[in-house]
Amino acid sequence: MTTHTSRVFSGIQPTGNLHLGNYLGAITKWVALQESHECLFCVVDLHAITVWQDPAELVRNTREVTAAVIAAGIDPKKHIVFNQSQVSGHAELAWIFNCVARMGWLSRMTQFKEKAGKHRENASVGLFAYPNLMAADILLYKATHVPVGDDQKQHLELSRDIAQKFNSDFAASVAALDLAADFFPLPEPLIAGPATRIMSLRDGRAKMSKSDPSDMTRINMMDDANTIARKFQKARTDPEPLPSSEAGLEGRPEADNLVGIYAALAGHAKAEVLSEFGGSQFSAFKKALTEIAVERVAPVAAETKRLMDDPGQIDAILVDGAARARAIADPVLRSVKQVVGLIQD
Ligand code: TRP
Repeated sequence: MTTHTSRVFSGIQPTGNLHLGNYLGAITKWVALQESHECLFCVVDLHAITVWQDPAELVRNTREVTAAVIAAGIDPKKHIVFNQSQVSGHAELAWIFNCVARMGWLSRMTQFKEKAGKHRENASVGLFAYPNLMAADILLYKATHVPVGDDQKQHLELSRDIAQKFNSDFAASVAALDLAADFFPLPEPLIAGPATRIMSLRDGRAKMSKSDPSDMTRINMMDDANTIARKFQKARTDPEPLPSSEAGLEGRPEADNLVGIYAALAGHAKAEVLSEFGGSQFSAFKKALTEIAVERVAPVAAETKRLMDDPGQIDAILVDGAARARAIADPVLRSVKQVVGLIQD
């Protein structure tokens, strides 16, 4: 077995209006990983267009997510920050993977079923093939580790299946070219710290989402202090005071969510938060929660705004990131093309 060099790849959609779920669930995990790994962070604009995007907004959202990632503390000099569409290898490798992955595999993807809903016949072909593009994102760099949330685990497993089928379908060609036997690594999920699933402020069983029609269900990264205070004040709870141990959160999804948000913002375990607030009323806890949320969110929002005032600077970061991404991707894509028989040498 060849060992592949450890490399992290992750992607984030350029959807406007980043919220606390995106921040705590993805971006802060990336910030932690950059200390220990070589990382590529990709704004996945090609994935975004699997559903309709207003073109002018897409341009803006790509810049805004890039700005937020940098404002949150990702260093674009040490690591690679870029947008997917600027490295053509993603689309090229995705096509090859369209021919490796089986219809049956993709038909089982729960995210497609959810997103396509009852109007399956009307969903874009891109939405169906979405996981193949995600596999291409990762494998174009032979990335070995992928930080993903729960909802993306199935897609990551599909990436492993694609890597494995490619490796075995083309084993003879790989050998004839004198390449390492396991051509693609089988990428592994990477969970940094406790899993952070941030739920809606109005329903502890639904994920915090930008598509929820009510803005009161989420804390947006650009919300001001008063808005954050009001949203937490109105957040759904139950009549009991906070429990003093984690077991007491069972069957209390809203309480569990607020404690989880506090824990993630403070960088503590839930148990620690409960040892401090066990027995408190929600009114008191919500004040503390607002305070820490404002303290964490406000500087990121301010820095995002500052960066957004200079789009040229953001674009320059993306251009530089794409060039460095291409330097890794080009040789991989070239050998893929040799292996498949698309080019001779
Ligand atoms: N599908 C991921 C999401 O919606 C985003 C994504 C695209 C991604 N390509 C990726 C994540 C590659 C990890 C690795 O969150």
